[in-house]
Amino acid sequence: MTGTSPKISFRGVHHVFDVAGNPFTALDEVDLDIADGEFVTVVGPSGCGKSTLMNVAAGLLEPSGGEVLVDGGRVRGPSPQRGVIFQQYALFPWMSVRENVEFGLKIARMGKAERRARAERFIELVGLTDFADALPKTLSGGMKQRCAIARAYAVDPAVLLMDEPFGALDALTRVRLQDSLLDAWTRERRTVLFITHDVDEAVYLANRVIVMAARPGRVHRIIDVDLPYPRTEEIRLSPEFAEIRNQVWHSVHHQPSAPEAAPR
Ligand SMILES: Nc1ncnc2c1ncn2[C@@H]1O[C@H](COP(=O)(O)OP(=O)(O)OP(=O)(O)O)[C@@H](O)[C@H]1O
Ligand SMILES: [Mg+2]
Repeated sequence: MTGTSPKISFRGVHHVFDVAGNPFTALDEVDLDIADGEFVTVVGPSGCGKSTLMNVAAGLLEPSGGEVLVDGGRVRGPSPQRGVIFQQYALFPWMSVRENVEFGLKIARMGKAERRARAERFIELVGLTDFADALPKTLSGGMKQRCAIARAYAVDPAVLLMDEPFGALDALTRVRLQDSLLDAWTRERRTVLFITHDVDEAVYLANRVIVMAARPGRVHRIIDVDLPYPRTEEIRLSPEFAEIRNQVWHSVHHQPSAPEAAPR
């Protein structure tokens, strides 16, 4: 990416959980720089610390050691500058799609007319215009997740932190949402940290794929995805894509054996 200072910087981030009285190292000295406007995906075996890494970046968890810097300032708690999208769609069930999307803007004290217009724009971006007045319970899983994306985007966070946002969706909806996310990213250029279990998804979306390893949770390998945007079906089916995917697959599935015993 560019030579300017990183947007997000993990510096010696270390985290130890207490599991039934035993220390368990969930993150072991993670050092990682993410450039402004970069799309970074994180893959790795279950329990390797991906969500822990995201929670630290979101300011929801204070690490036992090290720090995360955003624009050079230390993360000390959640901020509207960092939009978080969790795996389970966290929508307010009693609010319509529009009200959900407007909610963050209301908190930010944006005026009513501006709020309305902005919500409309982002609802359109995720293709939910016809459902703006619907309640979440009447939407499919994919539609709920698109609403959560619109809500996170509308607040205009400089950084988007997404923890397996498409994990629960069927393959077709997933591909559609990947494309609408990339579309929005190309237009609005946020810095994105995106966690996934899916190696294809990790490669399809990213500038770089971070492969983590477990026990202790750490960065195992970083793989550049040297493929152009927009990413298309043609790219997804290309030999270049397959080669990178195979590299990532290999480093996820053939990791060095655990140097630390699991807690009982
Ligand atoms: N609050 C907690 N207390 C104790 N241990 C925890 C806590 N949260 C996570 N852990 C442990 O830390 C490790 C990393 O958890 P984390 O949720 O970050 O993994 P993950 O990579 O996101 O896994 P998955 O892919 O299954 O979502 C796991 O072994 C987990 O058991
Ligand atoms: Mg997780």
